[in-house]
Amino acid sequence: MDENTLKIPSDVRAKALQTMNEESMENVARKRFSPEKIEIFNGSLTSLQTLNEYRFLKDTEAERMLPGIINNPVQQVITDPNPDENAKAKFSKPRHIGVVFSGGPAPGGHNVIAGLFDEMKRFNSASKMFGFIKGPEGLLENRYIEITPELVDTHRNMGGFNMIKTGRTKIDSGSKMELALTVCKGLNLDALVIIGGDDSNTNAAFLAQHFKSSGIKVLGIPKTIDGDIQVKTEDGKVLCATSFGFHSAARAFAQNIANLANDGSSDIKYWHVCKVMGRVASHLTLETALQTHVNIALIGEELADYVDQDRMVKSLAQGGQMDYNAYGMTLRHLSRVICDIIVRRAAFGKNYGLMIIPEGILEFINEIQVFITKLNKIIADYNRIHDLDFHRTFSTLNEKLDYLRRISQGMMDKGRFPIWNIRDDELFNQLPGFFREGLLVERDLHGNFQFSQVKTEKIIMDMVKEYLDVLREQGLYKVGILRDDYVSLMDGAGMDPDLFAPALFKNPQDKYVLVKPDIISLKTLKIALVHAGMLDDEEQIPAVLVNIFRKSQADFNIQTHFYGYDGRGTDPTYFDCCYAYNLGLTAFHLITGGATGQMAAIINLEKDFHQWQPAGIPIARLMHLEERKGRLELVMEKSLVDLESNAFKVFKAVREEWVAACACPDQFRNPGAIGFSKEMEEDRPLTLRLNALQSQEQT
Ligand code: FBP
Repeated sequence: MDENTLKIPSDVRAKALQTMNEESMENVARKRFSPEKIEIFNGSLTSLQTLNEYRFLKDTEAERMLPGIINNPVQQVITDPNPDENAKAKFSKPRHIGVVFSGGPAPGGHNVIAGLFDEMKRFNSASKMFGFIKGPEGLLENRYIEITPELVDTHRNMGGFNMIKTGRTKIDSGSKMELALTVCKGLNLDALVIIGGDDSNTNAAFLAQHFKSSGIKVLGIPKTIDGDIQVKTEDGKVLCATSFGFHSAARAFAQNIANLANDGSSDIKYWHVCKVMGRVASHLTLETALQTHVNIALIGEELADYVDQDRMVKSLAQGGQMDYNAYGMTLRHLSRVICDIIVRRAAFGKNYGLMIIPEGILEFINEIQVFITKLNKIIADYNRIHDLDFHRTFSTLNEKLDYLRRISQGMMDKGRFPIWNIRDDELFNQLPGFFREGLLVERDLHGNFQFSQVKTEKIIMDMVKEYLDVLREQGLYKVGILRDDYVSLMDGAGMDPDLFAPALFKNPQDKYVLVKPDIISLKTLKIALVHAGMLDDEEQIPAVLVNIFRKSQADFNIQTHFYGYDGRGTDPTYFDCCYAYNLGLTAFHLITGGATGQMAAIINLEKDFHQWQPAGIPIARLMHLEERKGRLELVMEKSLVDLESNAFKVFKAVREEWVAACACPDQFRNPGAIGFSKEMEEDRPLTLRLNALQSQEQT
């Protein structure tokens, strides 16, 4: 292109740049928005009250490894009724506080920092806050910035973790903890606040233990879009209903999916298959389904809970033996369940729809979970024994498969029962290449399987497509035709609809008529017509009947979508703006109260804002042993979807209506865009609202 044609006058260029760089009104308003504060944060001094009524079981390994924090109680932040001079001095003393983001971003993170910063400065403007860059890596490498009022103001109520970035580095050895301590001492920190998920809160607990004698406090903040940080006491009392970021991510996914529903139900030719994030638990899928009323939403936890009653009854009848293969749903069975819905909808003219698949679904399919666990162990053992990296040594799929084959043939470890046997090898090799590659992907630094890198939806949908082909061949997958349309087409062609209908349809009088199963081609159509005396052997099939037959043929077209990183980076909802800001305020008051090894939380999050209560929960009590990198490690326990919860039960009760396999309209719901005002969106996740209904009924 000619250079001169690109030139624009300098004043136009300046104005153009100004126009394009203008911050949107929405962002300006967002940054100015002040989240509501829990009443006790509006001025008064606070103290920490022990809440003995909240009890947890104690893991013996946690007791052994975290002796300095294992006996922490649940603490509630309360207004100090009679603050003496000491209390006043404690609050107004200048402090140094370090903050670090850890793990994947979650909307609201900047508000945690804003809440902590505002409160710290309110009590003493000389206090300082340091943000470690790129997550725990910055903490180990002494890379930080001082957080300034300007920096906080440009990030208030905004999504992402861009202010100080984040990372997944794990502080998992004595030497790394010592390094972190040296850095914190160098900055003269009073406290370190780790804003992270289950693995990061695990880190917070170990650091709190390690830092105990130094006097530096370590606190965790429940962050993750996955919503799997939930805390219940041993008798089921809810202390932390969800993590911040969950609501915003689910709403972002829901908005996109609702847009697809709009398009899909206009264009009526695609099944939109939406995989949504959630490394393991299906909370995001459940919330997104409650928000959008899609036709199919798979909840991993429910699949794992499935029992094949027919198989069970049969095996008991045959030999009285329990058939353990009857437990859990197989991929094959799952594909059948999906096909059933697709076929039923098609019978009512709806050969399109929306489906949500949770990213972590494979974790709940027994046959796949066995592979994941075994491969975790094989990779971890290889790295440990050889002090090498499995993925660097075996960089291609064939090299990896060859290594597995050698294990299965007992060539690696003679005399020992191989973890990977010939049967495993055979079954594994029956999986498609892309899926085998996916199951062998590098684990993350915490030893977690990286579900987001596996094309879960492809493996499931390939099986669905295959079975739909079978059903089509059998004449069972067909598109139902509105009888009125059939009648008007026949009338238009001057043919009697009532005369032909019994020969063509299996349900000639219904609102949606379905071509008979044995009519699967023009040839079989002709046979049926001849057989019914509607046509002579030599006659051509009338064009209108060919047209009707073609309309009944079901093509299965899918569009796949992955919703994850976009939702992690969305701006926070009103709920997350307030929740995260109050978590920041809570963290400050836990620090002033001398807490360490605690996770800041808001009790009654599932209820109205005026019932929210800031608290600290002992992290050590939330830990258990879990398989990581082929070994048992003490980590904070993730919460899965509770199949007994009200939210799940409601979903289960209404989902058949959302399938809409009837002569009725679809039930899709569009929750609208994320706002940050109470008036424009629900004030908390629907899952929380439904679960609160349950608890109100119980009290
Ligand atoms: P956190 O647990 O750190 O909050 O991250 C959760 C998550 O968003 C999962 O939903 C997803 O599987 C994973 O992170 C993706 O990780 P990565 O950013 O490393 O690709």
